[in-house]
Amino acid sequence: MDKIAVLDFGGQYAHLIANRIRRAGVFAEIIIPQNLVDPATELKDFCAVVLSGGPQSVFEKNSPKVDPAIFEIKKPILGICYGLQFLVHALGGQVKKAAGGEFGEAKLKITGKSKLLAGLPKASTAWMSHGDEVKKLPKGFEKIASTADCEFAAIEDSARQIFGVQFHPEVKHTEFGEKILANFLKISGAKKSWDLDKFLKDEISKIKKQVGQKKVFLLVSGGVDSTVAFALLEKALGKKRVFGLMIDTGLLRQNEAEEVHKSLTKAGFANLKVANEAGHFAAALKNITDPEEKRRIIGRVFLKVQRKVLKRLRFNPREWLLGQGTIYPDTIESAGTANSDKIKTHHNRVEEIEKMIEKGLIVEPLAELYKDEVREVGRKLKLPKNLIERHPFPGPGLGVRILCGESEKPKTTNKIETEINRKWKIRGKVLPLRSVGVQGDARTFAHPVALFTASRDFDKLSAIATWIVNKFPEINRVVLGLDVAKAPRVFLAAPAKLTASRVELARAADAIVNQTLSAQKLYAKVWQFPVVLAPVFEKGGEAIILRPINSEEAMTANFARLPKTFFATVTKKLLKLDGVEHVFLDLTNKPPATIEWE
Ligand code: XMP
Repeated sequence: MDKIAVLDFGGQYAHLIANRIRRAGVFAEIIIPQNLVDPATELKDFCAVVLSGGPQSVFEKNSPKVDPAIFEIKKPILGICYGLQFLVHALGGQVKKAAGGEFGEAKLKITGKSKLLAGLPKASTAWMSHGDEVKKLPKGFEKIASTADCEFAAIEDSARQIFGVQFHPEVKHTEFGEKILANFLKISGAKKSWDLDKFLKDEISKIKKQVGQKKVFLLVSGGVDSTVAFALLEKALGKKRVFGLMIDTGLLRQNEAEEVHKSLTKAGFANLKVANEAGHFAAALKNITDPEEKRRIIGRVFLKVQRKVLKRLRFNPREWLLGQGTIYPDTIESAGTANSDKIKTHHNRVEEIEKMIEKGLIVEPLAELYKDEVREVGRKLKLPKNLIERHPFPGPGLGVRILCGESEKPKTTNKIETEINRKWKIRGKVLPLRSVGVQGDARTFAHPVALFTASRDFDKLSAIATWIVNKFPEINRVVLGLDVAKAPRVFLAAPAKLTASRVELARAADAIVNQTLSAQKLYAKVWQFPVVLAPVFEKGGEAIILRPINSEEAMTANFARLPKTFFATVTKKLLKLDGVEHVFLDLTNKPPATIEWE
């Protein structure tokens, strides 16, 4: 079979590149460069090679490398982001540390003729996530596209068929990314021989082989991933050998456990139980404020509870494997590959689970797929539409949407606020808390800026948000005050914990947002809509932060530009909740911010 090699330098999107190539019908294999003994010889079996992005800089001593002899094998090569910087550095060009960086949307302008960019308009949108950039091209190369902040956004050596792009063609937010990858596949001459039907067939035999005579105890949440995993396991093993357990963590949405039980039973899943274990989670999280610590504890309590239920149901643990609906972004963001940076620990990727995976005790039939593919597999397995099209809800649930911790502000707060005001004539305030982000493939934990203006020109506000995050390393998110147009004089934050009353408040706010979304027929217009509770205030209450986003595969996202009337209605309703003092809208894309705040 014709195939493409994707060398994984640890980029958040390395697997996504392979996924996109496979979606174009050509098989792609991910290879960790350090695992190659003689790269130039081993890569000769492939039609072409892609060098992925990565969190490091070519200047770092231990940054991932591959023998430059691969540039002599006469196969087309495409370097993406770090991959581009690596090839420039290795072939005698120069890379420089950029003063700020470029994260999120950028306008790509074509400057030269190239097979790689064939069929693209002169200007289009490209998605960026980088600090370093190319300063001088190696011999034989020429520039084929630029952006305002990056001169060498795309380059090529047409004689050697070596190409490089600083942006990410593999993410859906790059308008013509698919076309660029298709052009590269055309250049490679690879034949098309891969699709999701083949994936299903291969996966079913893989499940049968791994499970053998045992049975599978699957943790379900009502979300699309575990529901599709449930259906796939039943198809491979038969209904009697798959048992679904939904754990009510106390961090679920309003009435979620009953509703999920009802809809899964209606969809024909017979072996299904709900265990209410809210007390365990609340006790374990009582004094925890660090986001990563919270995630690890939630993952561990899931395991503990699952063992307890196995025992209570008198299941012999030697006869059962644990099933999870893990999908690919859960593994990559938890640093699941050799070179990648840890962004956040997903609940189904804690250390104990990793050890069980090594021993072959975990079945994860969807671990290679992205959400859009999972939904397609669900359709192929004839699951009802309402289950397939639900918004994703993370395992740790409201637990990662209730911000905890102490009040903290960067020392440069005044400077940041003055510069924003000078440049945009808008009042911006640095909020005294931090949230998780992803920039240049690495994790950030930085402050949000809140903007106060009557404007609802979301394109303009988004441009301001991008400028702010690119300019100030202390800032990784920008939010918009929805309830007041004038900036309050000062914002405070109180030390906060995960208390029962805060969980109730977050749950009530989430219910209001979701009900309004459905009532205004906007549910299908957003991909996901986290509602975050943050202990920032003027007078002692809390703030609600709305985070509606659109995405294809959760690796990149942009904030959803919903109608002004929706935000106005929802803000009015939220302010009526006891304890809610302000409402904000998150204007940040991913990157630089992640979808969830923790
Ligand atoms: P981030 O915040 O990393 O989220 O941009 C990407 C997607 O993953 C979901 N998410 C999780 N899902 N367990 C899950 O099942 C987790 O621990 C977890 N953390 C984040 C998030 O809701 C978004 O869809």
